[in-house]
Amino acid sequence: MSGIKLISTGSALPVREVTNFDMEKLVETSDEWISTRTGISARRFCSGEECHTSLCLAAARQALERSGLRPEQIGVCLVATLTQDTMTPSTACVLQKELGLPEDTVCFDLNAACAGFVYGLHTAECLLAAAERKYGLVIGCEVLSRITDFTDRSTCVLFGDGAGAAILEWGEDYPSLCAVMGSRGNRQVLMIPGVNTGSPNFIHMDGKEVFRFAVDVLPKCAKEVAAKAGISLDQVDRFVFHQANQRILDYAIKKLKIDPARCVGNIARTGNTSAASVPLLLDELVTSGALRSGQRALCAGFGGGLTWAGALLQLA
Ligand code: COA
Repeated sequence: MSGIKLISTGSALPVREVTNFDMEKLVETSDEWISTRTGISARRFCSGEECHTSLCLAAARQALERSGLRPEQIGVCLVATLTQDTMTPSTACVLQKELGLPEDTVCFDLNAACAGFVYGLHTAECLLAAAERKYGLVIGCEVLSRITDFTDRSTCVLFGDGAGAAILEWGEDYPSLCAVMGSRGNRQVLMIPGVNTGSPNFIHMDGKEVFRFAVDVLPKCAKEVAAKAGISLDQVDRFVFHQANQRILDYAIKKLKIDPARCVGNIARTGNTSAASVPLLLDELVTSGALRSGQRALCAGFGGGLTWAGALLQLA
């Protein structure tokens, strides 16, 4: 068996907190509607000088510092995102320069929407197996406030900005992530126009259909990861699920018959931060001591594409 372990984490949230009461001033909505339908009370939005690159850099620097590694030891640097500051250079390339990573580091951004970070974990596991340097940096970062239509109440109350980072080490005797991934091409359910469409690149979403997709795919994905790893869900220490909607999470907890205490999230404070959601929560769990050395977190993301991905990640 070979695979990767989680060495350290980092995170960065914008300074500006926007509560549901602030959203009430923007659109016809209420704190009561948002919190009961989604579990969200507040989210963070970038302001001033804050941007995608600054969030990624802050999260990456924190993770690197906590790992005790030097930048020269990193062999792979991946940024999962769909809201990078520039399409090229990719944020991963900007990080190569700013962090002082060696020029032969494999650096690229990847887009698998809200499943992006878990796609990134699996990609890093594969790349690190072949790399000379066995440490990888995987970041999930979004500045969704830049692609949010603040006149559309059905979407603008859901999203937030942030970044989470993870340093990983590949080892011949480390456990495999036992990653499970999937995609189902669909423009109707969740779509963000690209540069050549002539429309503003706002998020378009059929909320009900996304909900149906999520409650179907999330429990299936979690079960498949556990089956691949040959363990029962009872043997998982923490569930780190994409924080899209508390009702989706509650449904998955019920369907999987897992202890809600092992599935505590942070959606109330962050909103849905897409690719940043899983690593932000992972960082909270590691820094608070809720996920300890040797313990395993079952991470799972789902969203636009449509995409989904799950993996079992052990803290070194
Ligand atoms: N405030 C108040 N009312 C709102 C509102 C808001 N922010 N947004 C929508 N509404 C209204 C609708 O206009 C509708 O009114 P109507 O009945 O008069 O037409 C009513 O609330 C119900 O809307 P509906 O879309 O049926 O609500 P819902 O119960 O499906 O909840 C979501 C909407 C978006 C919260 C829910 O569908 C959801 O969470 N979907 C998943 C979204 C998601 O997770 N996306 C990211 C995936 S990665």
